[in-house]
Amino acid sequence: MKKKIGFIGCGNIAEAIIKGLLNAGFDTNDIIATNKEKIERLEYIKDRYGINVTRNKSEVVERSNILILAVKPKDVQDALKDINLEDRSLISVAAGITTAYIESQFDGRAKVIRAMPNTSSMVGESVTAICKGKFAGDDDLRYAYDIFSSIGEVAVLDEDDFDAVTGLSGSGPAYVYYMMEALVEAGVKNGLDEEVARGLARQTIFGAAVMLKETGEDPSQLRLKVTSPGGTTMAGIMALESSGFKETIYNAVYEASRRSKEMRKNIGA
Ligand SMILES: NC(=O)c1ccc[n+]([C@@H]2O[C@H](COP(=O)([O-])OP(=O)(O)OC[C@H]3O[C@@H](n4cnc5c(N)ncnc54)[C@H](OP(=O)(O)O)[C@@H]3O)[C@@H](O)[C@H]2O)c1
Repeated sequence: MKKKIGFIGCGNIAEAIIKGLLNAGFDTNDIIATNKEKIERLEYIKDRYGINVTRNKSEVVERSNILILAVKPKDVQDALKDINLEDRSLISVAAGITTAYIESQFDGRAKVIRAMPNTSSMVGESVTAICKGKFAGDDDLRYAYDIFSSIGEVAVLDEDDFDAVTGLSGSGPAYVYYMMEALVEAGVKNGLDEEVARGLARQTIFGAAVMLKETGEDPSQLRLKVTSPGGTTMAGIMALESSGFKETIYNAVYEASRRSKEMRKNIGA
């Protein structure tokens, strides 16, 4: 049977997934979305992508086989109110919210998939971790896999890994942006024009990412290949080592993972 997908929540991540689905050949008639109150946002999505939009959540549910819950964690409970899931499966991208919590919002055996994409989904380059809840089947997981493949790579993981995923790939793009900020500032401190430094830093990060992906080589090997003893790169790497670069990254991932757990606890989910 041809699947129809309904979005509850129509913000940034929903838009990225809609874009990915359409690029992957999904029919506009098979996608419908709703949000809470911003009618102009729904009109923008309809004009830009040609999918169906409605103010009526029940209509989204009625017209879909799969629901994608794309609301902020604090809005999950409200967004799930009055949804009769029946045989539909529900994919949640809400950060930190467990499948068990979502299952508990329904009577019976709700088929729930949890997914953690990242912001690079906007350009089709996310990496999305997915897992299934207690009542979802392999078919539900496979279908989620296909959906998130349209916005990048997908990893099927245990739900217990999701806080670590949040700390690494969920928040990771921001760490790279931060590193880019530092590279640009360092370039300026060393006499470069800011725009020039920005262009150099951006392409350096992009080129390194493409090298990693296309060669499939271990990053430490790639690093060693370009680090000759006594050379300039070696001097730079030694400065990173002596200022505790790796420990700083460990701390960032740890703290973001810890915050993910804390946020879940705060909303009892
Ligand atoms: N952005 C990312 O890259 C990313 C990555 C991974 C995970 N996530 C997760 O994805 C979720 C959404 O993030 P986002 O960045 O897309 O947020 P967003 O842009 O703020 O969008 C949230 C959407 O939820 C709607 N909404 C709120 N309450 C609702 C309700 N009761 N019923 C129906 N719709 C409701 C909002 O509608 P109104 O605008 O009308 O209020 C809005 O369309 C979050 O849980 C986040 O953790 C996002």
